[in-house]
Amino acid sequence: MIIIGSDHGGLNLKTALISYLKRRNIEVTDAGTNGDASVDYPDFGRNVAETVAAGRAELGILICGTGIGMSITANKIPGIRAALVTDVFMARMAKEHNNANVLVLGGRVLDEQKACDLVGAWLESTFEAGRHQGRLDKITALEQKYSR
Ligand code: RB5
Repeated sequence: MIIIGSDHGGLNLKTALISYLKRRNIEVTDAGTNGDASVDYPDFGRNVAETVAAGRAELGILICGTGIGMSITANKIPGIRAALVTDVFMARMAKEHNNANVLVLGGRVLDEQKACDLVGAWLESTFEAGRHQGRLDKITALEQKYSR
């Protein structure tokens, strides 16, 4: 299952991506927001990231206006590797090299077709492990060093 969340700046793209995932028969949980009212992206970023980190969702997608606030938020949660991407190469690398378990998009940056292409590229890619696993292990060690 993929959990997807946004703030008001990412709402339209979230709606489009939920349709895209359903068309592909991928189970998706909508973590909000679901209205135009201005909300705080850390509330939604935290919910999605904690759900993925706890293993209650395989992967997460987060969208705010630029994607920047959501990526900063999600990467605070231990075990989360959130990648903000703007092109298909980055989306593919986010999985192949970084094993990103959360994809982050900018609702005011991307059109719907491009966003679907990025999600598709990420989902269809596979983590290459090998030398990249050692690099992720170093990130995990940093998390552990600075976790209380
Ligand atoms: C909200 O206006 C905006 O700041 C938010 O969507 C996001 O772009 C933050 O990084």
